[in-house]
Amino acid sequence: MPSLKIKTLHYESLPSTNTEAARLASDGAAEGLSIVADEQTAGRGRLQRTWSSPKGAGLYFSVLLCPKIPLHFWPLITFMAALATGDALLSVAGLQTEIKWPNDLLAGERKICGILSETVDTREGRAVVVGIGINLTGRAYPPDLNGLATSVEEETRTPLDRHLLLMSLQNAIAHWYDELLGMDGAKKILKAWIDRSSYADGRLVDVVNGDQIFRGITRGVEADGALRVETEANEIRIIRAGDVVNVRSAS
Ligand code: BTN
Repeated sequence: MPSLKIKTLHYESLPSTNTEAARLASDGAAEGLSIVADEQTAGRGRLQRTWSSPKGAGLYFSVLLCPKIPLHFWPLITFMAALATGDALLSVAGLQTEIKWPNDLLAGERKICGILSETVDTREGRAVVVGIGINLTGRAYPPDLNGLATSVEEETRTPLDRHLLLMSLQNAIAHWYDELLGMDGAKKILKAWIDRSSYADGRLVDVVNGDQIFRGITRGVEADGALRVETEANEIRIIRAGDVVNVRSAS
């Protein structure tokens, strides 16, 4: 039996499931609280972006975790969430995905899921809210992302049982969270993540951080999940923030 006990609150509409989970965490909610909304009116993505969240078009989900692991391994919480989401999409929709550093799930090179992990201070200490957005239909993302984004419906051409996906996602999170907290957990998560990401090694990318950009080749990940990128001047740079863009599809 997994040690994480998940308790789910379902809402028709929320500004953001992450914001609500963080609010309840500050009010004393227990680890495992999960929040699901049919729509978000102020869905948030990484790097201050918005996350389009029309009613019924995506799965908008957040879970509160209080991991007892060293802080420098906390970026791996996002990695374990990506592994869990990949498992759920495979088992419920038969959909194979891959992971793009640091936290996107791609299907056929297009983004199908984004993950936003945010720390929150609670009475019990620091915790993290992991927010997962999965595009279920093409309505989930704005038209200007056509070609860059995709959805479960577009990839599988079969209707999806959202409830089953949610159950499967929660089970997979409980499983991978146990892995993370267990013996050699960080190493295991990292290895599984690398196995599922063609971005981890040997990929020509542009690294974009604000208005800074440089081109390089990915050369693996550090123990804490930071990306190693070899620059055109043959220096290794360790990337902890920003985005990577696949150069082949970026033109
Ligand atoms: C990204 O790729 O930029 C991360 C997107 C994360 C979106 C999810 S949807 C559920 C949760 N609530 C939010 O406001 N954001 C996350």
